[in-house]
Formats: sequence, C-alpha cells, structure tokens
Amino acid sequence: MNIKSICCIGAGYVGGPTMAIIAAKCPHIKVTVVDLNEARIAAWNDADVTKIPIYEPGLSDIVAEARGRNLFFSTNVDQAIDEADMIFISVNTPTKTYGIGKGMAADLKYIELCARQIASVSKTDKIVVEKSTLPVRTAEAIKNILQNTGNGVKFQILSNPEFLAEGTAVTDLLNPDRVLIGGDGDAEGQEAVNALEAIYANWISRDRILTTNLWSSELSKLTANAFLAQRVSSINAMSELCEKTGADVNEVARAIGMDSRIGPKFLKASVGFGGSCFQKDILNLVYIAKSYALNEVADYWEQVIIMNDHQKRRFANTIVSTLYNTVSGKKIAFLGWAFKKDTNDTRESAAIYVADYLLNEQAHVAVFDPQVQELQMQSDLNYLATRSEKENASGITVQQDPYEACKDAHAIAVLTEWDEFKSYDWHRIYANMKKPAFIFDGRNLLDGKKMEQIGFVFQAIGKGK
Ligand code: NAD
Ligand code: UDX
Repeated sequence: MNIKSICCIGAGYVGGPTMAIIAAKCPHIKVTVVDLNEARIAAWNDADVTKIPIYEPGLSDIVAEARGRNLFFSTNVDQAIDEADMIFISVNTPTKTYGIGKGMAADLKYIELCARQIASVSKTDKIVVEKSTLPVRTAEAIKNILQNTGNGVKFQILSNPEFLAEGTAVTDLLNPDRVLIGGDGDAEGQEAVNALEAIYANWISRDRILTTNLWSSELSKLTANAFLAQRVSSINAMSELCEKTGADVNEVARAIGMDSRIGPKFLKASVGFGGSCFQKDILNLVYIAKSYALNEVADYWEQVIIMNDHQKRRFANTIVSTLYNTVSGKKIAFLGWAFKKDTNDTRESAAIYVADYLLNEQAHVAVFDPQVQELQMQSDLNYLATRSEKENASGITVQQDPYEACKDAHAIAVLTEWDEFKSYDWHRIYANMKKPAFIFDGRNLLDGKKMEQIGFVFQAIGKGK
C-alpha cells in the first residue's frame, strides 16, 4: 500500500515534532496534524515560526521548511481523517484522576474518542497507528470499536510507540536508536507494517526498524520508560548514601558507567525525574501488573516512583534544615522550572513539588526559567490544589532576569540543568544575596569548588563532605 496522505490526531509534544520530520523527509506525502485545541493549532500556524507551541532545538527550521508544502495544522479533524490513508493517534494518555484505577491507570478516554471518530468518519480503508503510549492490549479495544461500524471499511491497527526525549526530539527523530512497529501476523497486517516501514525507510536504515507483534510493541514502550526511570532512581538512591559517606555520586556513576554492561547513560543523580512520561507509564505498568495479580512485579516497579518522590522531598527538606530549620519569609531563588533543559515542558517537573514544599514552609520563591512562562508556573502550582490561586500568585515571583531572581535571596536552588546557568556572573550574584549565601544544586550542574571560592555555601545532590 502506497501512503499518500497521513493524518495525525494530537498536535502535542509527540504529534507535532514527529509529523514535522515525516513531512520534511517525505515531501511526496501530505501530512495533516489535527487537534481540538484551537489555540495550539493557531500557534503551529503562526506566521512567525519561532512562536510554534513547542520549544525544541531545531524544530522551527523544519516546520518552516515543510509547513504549507506538505505539512498542515488544522482543527478540522473529520476532514483530515476522511482524506488520510494512514492515521496516527498521538493524543495524551494521562494518569486517571477518577474512578477505577484513579492515580494509576492510563486514562484512555481520548484514545477511545479518536477511535470512535475514525470509525464514524472513514469511508475508505485506513491504517490506524497507535503513536501514543498505551497499556498492553489496547489495540484490541481499538480494533473492536473500528471493526463494528458495519460500513464495510477495513482497518489495520499498528503499534508504533515513540521513543523521542524532549529537548532532543529532532535529533532523536532524525536518528533514532530504533523504530518499533507492531502489527498483526496475517498478510493484511504485514502489508500495513510494510507500508509504515516504507515511510520510515525514507531516512532510517532498515536494520533499525524492528517489527514485532502488537502486544510486544505496546509493552516495550512501557518497559523502556520503566528501565530508564529505574536507572535514575537507582543512582538517586545511591546519592543519598554518598552524602552520608563522603562518596561523590558523579565519581560513582563514572566508575560504574565504564562497565560496558552498565553503560554511562541515565546515571545522572538529580532532584528527581520529571516529565509527562516516566511516572505516568510506571504507574500504568504497576496497575497492569496488579490487574493480573502480579503483586511482586507491581511492588518492584512502584519502588521507582517511591524513590523519586523521596528524592524531591529530601531535596526540599535539605534546603529547610540547612537554612536553620526555617525558610519562613525567606526568599529562595529557583534557577529552572522545566523538567529538563531545552524544553518548555513542565509536566511533573521536580521544581513544582519543591516549590510546593517550600511554599508550605512560607518561603517566597523567585523563579527564572529561560523558556517557561509565568502563567504555566502558576497553573502547575494551582493544579496541585495545595493552596488557593491567590496564595500561589503571591508565593512565587517569576523573573525575566536571573540576576533579579537571585537578588536578596537567602538561597538558590538549581532545578533544571540549563547550560546558560553555568556561565552566569556568579560573583555578581553572590554580591547581591543575603549572607551566608547558599546554593543547592539539584542537578550537579555547577562547579562546587568555584562556588565555594566565591563564598557560597554549596551543596549538590550526592556529594558527601
Ligand atoms: P500532549 O498533551 O502534548 O498532546 C496531546 C494533544 O492531543 C493535545 O494537544 C490534545 O488537545 C490533543 N487531543 C486529545 N484528544 C483529542 C481528540 N479527540 N481529537 C483531537 N485532538 C485531541 O501529549 P504528548 O506529550 O504529545 O503525548 C502524546 C502521547 O505520546 C502520550 O501517550 C505520551 O505518553 C506519548 N509520548 C510522549 C512523549 C513525550 O516526550 N512527551 C514521548 C513518547 C511518547
Ligand atoms: C522519556 C524517555 O527518555 C523517552 O525515550 C520517552 O519517549 C519519553 O520519556 P523525556 O521524559 O522527554 O523522555 O526525558 P528524559 O531525558 O528521559 O528525562 C526524564 C527525566 O529524568 C528528566 O527530568 C531528567 O532530568 C531526568 N533524568 C534523566 C535524570 O535525572 N538523570 C538522568 O541521568 C537522566
């Protein structure tokens, strides 16, 4: 099957960049990305391409190249479905906030809505691709919905989970470690797999395109995120022990990472992992394991989250205890709010939880982040519903200038590893702070020795004294 027209439902962090790359690499295919969120689509269509809604290094250039040629952003979901040979579902699958599985299971209501809309609109055969991260065996439910329309249209369902990481989405998409495609084993299923493989083969060598059955593909995505997050929790667990024993977690990470069986990546101790995926996907895995009564499996993976929550709380606690057991009325400057560098995404960012903790202790938090807007920070805190919106608004101040954020502060907390923080004029920052001036480096980003020479009292995650 030769694909000429693609529709992607969901113009978010995955749908937008993924489709921009497909459009850029496949000028012969028309790619339409649709979303219910009108403001988001308007931003994707902004004449000023630097105003697209997602900040990712290199993305605006790619959008500029393909938009209007074979890449389109629209709110007309029905029309895009109708015209497409292949439909990617790339909508959000957040943790359920209600009912059975609340706080653990993935909320599949957006997925089901998409399936129903595809079923009702389609007049020609379609390949439907699960791009969203889904619980294993979701394709079964999608199939059920699509195959019971009674209108004679044939659907093939593929699983094609996305492995890009935010902040490096463009390079990850251009040069992925692998592309995973799961499909049915029968002839029609294989034809659909081949059609999707042919799209990726426009820029990815075939030996990196892996095909499996549907369930392996769905489960591999949850497994990959669980393994990655587990490495972060493992090194974070060691960071606490390092602080007690005088070991240095960076040195430990380097020493173990040189073992080729362990490898050097994802061994950076931090204030805790954030992002929209790790916690959500592990909770989902835990829920699935529990639903099969695999309680030991569930407990094993849940510990990754428990450790991560502990790390965030521990970091905030250290700030309070070091500042003589009170931060009430004190100004604490936050460098960074995004969950990692090079993104404007703040979902599940550790900064939100550390701020929440410090606000409970009546600190005043002054934040600088190079990409995150004030409205987003306020809405992140309001979402926790720990205190009123008014209290949140007066509890944090958002600064456009890092030097202003740090002025008269008692302490600085580094929450995101933005490169620019390293090259600040730290002498100037020190001169304008309350003394003693503390830095709590939640990212092991700054040169501790240099900071101490300037006069700061410096503490980093996982550095023993
Ligand atoms: P997102 O929230 O940024 O985007 C999802 C978009 O889907 C939203 O703009 C929303 O308005 C839209 N949407 C929801 N229901 C819709 C409907 N019925 N019709 C049209 N539009 C609809 O989410 P995201 O970060 O892009 O994640 C999407 C999926 O990809 C999730 O399952 C996530 O787990 C997975 N994933 C995310 C990442 C990542 O780095 N963010 C990486 C890999 C996989
Ligand atoms: C993750 C997966 O890496 C990606 O493959 C998947 O598609 C989506 O989820 P993402 O959440 O965008 O990507 O970023 P990632 O680089 O994995 O970082 C997640 C969190 O872990 C961040 O808060 C990051 O700062 C933290 N982290 C990562 C560490 O604290 N230490 C590390 O060594 C690595």
